Amino acid sequence: MTASAVEIQARTLAGYADASRLRQVHDRDWVLDLLPDGPQTLVDLGSGIGQLLQAALERFPSLRVAVGMERSEHRIAEAAERLHAYGARVALHQADLTDPQPLPHRPDAVTMTSVLHWLFPHEERIFAWAARHLAPGGRFLLTTYHPARDEHGLGGEDDIVRDALVALGTARADVPGLFAAAGVLPIATRTRTVDDLARVLRPHLSVAGHRERDAVVTVESAEQYAHFHAATFGDYYSRLAPPDLRAGFFRAVGEAARQRQRQLGHVSHMPVRLWQLTAH
Ligand SMILES: C[S@@+](CC[C@H](N)C(=O)[O-])C[C@H]1O[C@@H](n2cnc3c(N)ncnc32)[C@H](O)[C@@H]1O
Repeated sequence: MTASAVEIQARTLAGYADASRLRQVHDRDWVLDLLPDGPQTLVDLGSGIGQLLQAALERFPSLRVAVGMERSEHRIAEAAERLHAYGARVALHQADLTDPQPLPHRPDAVTMTSVLHWLFPHEERIFAWAARHLAPGGRFLLTTYHPARDEHGLGGEDDIVRDALVALGTARADVPGLFAAAGVLPIATRTRTVDDLARVLRPHLSVAGHRERDAVVTVESAEQYAHFHAATFGDYYSRLAPPDLRAGFFRAVGEAARQRQRQLGHVSHMPVRLWQLTAH
């Protein structure tokens, strides 16, 4: 059986430049607006395809070096292509942020947007890393998403996936058990609550301030959402479906999103917090 285009997209996390317009792109200017004046060295954690680094390089001529740390080799390759023109002002490192290695930089700005939930339950390691690396007076600007969760710890994208699995034949009540059996930790559990995160942060970083916005995702078609899901979540959730239903799974996710859009006027909405953090 050959894989469908959307399954291949999920494996390689392709199409993110387009997909991220639905949600993640809004974090970029929000965060860059709060960088210290005349930043010299920026490290972006989970830098994806390099969009935040590019925006920062364009906006801040003072930036001598913009460093990306990212796990996916596909995304590093896309970032390298995007940032080629900036030459020695860019350094990209393949890195696992749950086991971050020392870098020979003392950044006055560290950023991390739409990434932290992937590091659960080891977020503390990147907080300790940031505290060790920040230059005196430097800022760590972090965005975190906080979907409402049910008694099983499911919420946000988990809800859309639940609708899709039900459409493919799973009983609604069986979905939390299916997550557990497949070892898929619900995203609404990974994202933690604000209070829980504040507790994890506290030993390493001080909160100098925060902002909040509501991330509302709307969609024009089922296909658009299936692509957003594949580019954002890859094959994280699709392993919940049996192999012969994988292509159908992405279609069902798109269809579940389209139905929510029709019924609610949006697919999802959730508070996003921008934390302004400093080393103690
Ligand atoms: C939703 S994307 C966000 C990308 C970018 N920061 C943005 O705001 O558009 C999450 C990124 O985190 C990366 N990531 C997830 N887990 C990681 C880990 N353990 N170490 C490094 N990068 C990771 C993914 O590969 C992906 O590029």
